[in-house]
Amino acid sequence: MRLAPKQIETFRDDFTYSNSPEAIARFPFPFPEDEYRYSVNIEPHVTPGPAGSAFEFLFDIDEHYLSEMAERGIVLEENPKRCLAMPHMDLACWDLIERAMVSLSEDYPQWFSLSRDGDRWHWQNHLLHIDDEFVFGDSASLPQPPMEYIGRQLQGDLALLDQRDGDLFLDAGIVTCPADWSLAFDAGMSFKEWHGPVPLAHEMGVFERALKYLTAIPVGSPVRRLNWTLTVNARMDTSPETYPEWGHERTGITAENVGEKLHLRVELQVLDRMPRSNALLFSIRTYLISFDDLCTNPDWARRMHRVLKTLPPELIEYKGLSRYHQTAVDWLSRFDPLS
Ligand code: HEM
Repeated sequence: MRLAPKQIETFRDDFTYSNSPEAIARFPFPFPEDEYRYSVNIEPHVTPGPAGSAFEFLFDIDEHYLSEMAERGIVLEENPKRCLAMPHMDLACWDLIERAMVSLSEDYPQWFSLSRDGDRWHWQNHLLHIDDEFVFGDSASLPQPPMEYIGRQLQGDLALLDQRDGDLFLDAGIVTCPADWSLAFDAGMSFKEWHGPVPLAHEMGVFERALKYLTAIPVGSPVRRLNWTLTVNARMDTSPETYPEWGHERTGITAENVGEKLHLRVELQVLDRMPRSNALLFSIRTYLISFDDLCTNPDWARRMHRVLKTLPPELIEYKGLSRYHQTAVDWLSRFDPLS
């Protein structure tokens, strides 16, 4: 049985976000080993995956759907530049609309429905009370530009990469819950350019190998990887644009509040080839879990301790953990019999 979206919770101010026991049980814990190092951790995203898991479908819809869509609306209102699509990405945006509407209506028929008569499409999103008829490919027939229209109905951030000259370019996206990067800043950059700030991985050849893999992905064979960081409070929007609102929170972690305030932030990233435009869809589905909830699972608690304890200094610095890293390791040590 899948989770039903529940009442709206906040990812700012009073932070009322929380995970139900079911959401904790299906949290995509990202560490296969006790030590974490960068690698080309890409695997096929074969659907349907395990029933009820975050990997079951192409787009995971869970109990936070309504809350995350409300949060996206707030961010877009504050800064419409969180969504952009260069004119040559129009076809790719329509590819995305098709992929999203077809898979959502097949995977979650109780919440979404699509009927098609040639180019005349009828889309219903029962969760958000959306009921629209439009002409496929005609952006003027939608109430918003295509990227914004579909982005307001999918959890997580989305990017569409244009593929040319054996490289990928960040030419469209909707990014309202990034782990400290900016769509406006990275727009138009190539794969290695936007990965410029990442330490160690370039020297290890990670990005060279990943790019080769990505540019060869065929239609109908999506792949996935998990990425992670830590976030203070259940804040979805940790973007450079809003840094003044959240940067200082990193200094507020104490031995008393680690469990409640510190969150493991996991990104389930799926890469999927678009059929008409040959663009690559990169979806970034973000999951947050408090350390208190994480540590209800003894295996996760022990592993989290070992991963953080052995994390290279370059990654501690890059991921922005320096101010509270030691406090977190000390707090987690109670769950690790070897410490
Ligand atoms: C093609 C779609 C992808 C996009 C749009 C993308 C985008 C990004 C961005 C914007 C960042 C943050 C860089 C910064 O600090 O400003 C990042 C970080 C990173 N990316 Fe990607 N990425 C993609 C695919 C991949 C793949 C396939 C890999 C596989 C190895 C990868 C590995 C990484 C790593 C290791 C980091 C550092 C993350 C951390 O330590 O928190 N990326 N990516």
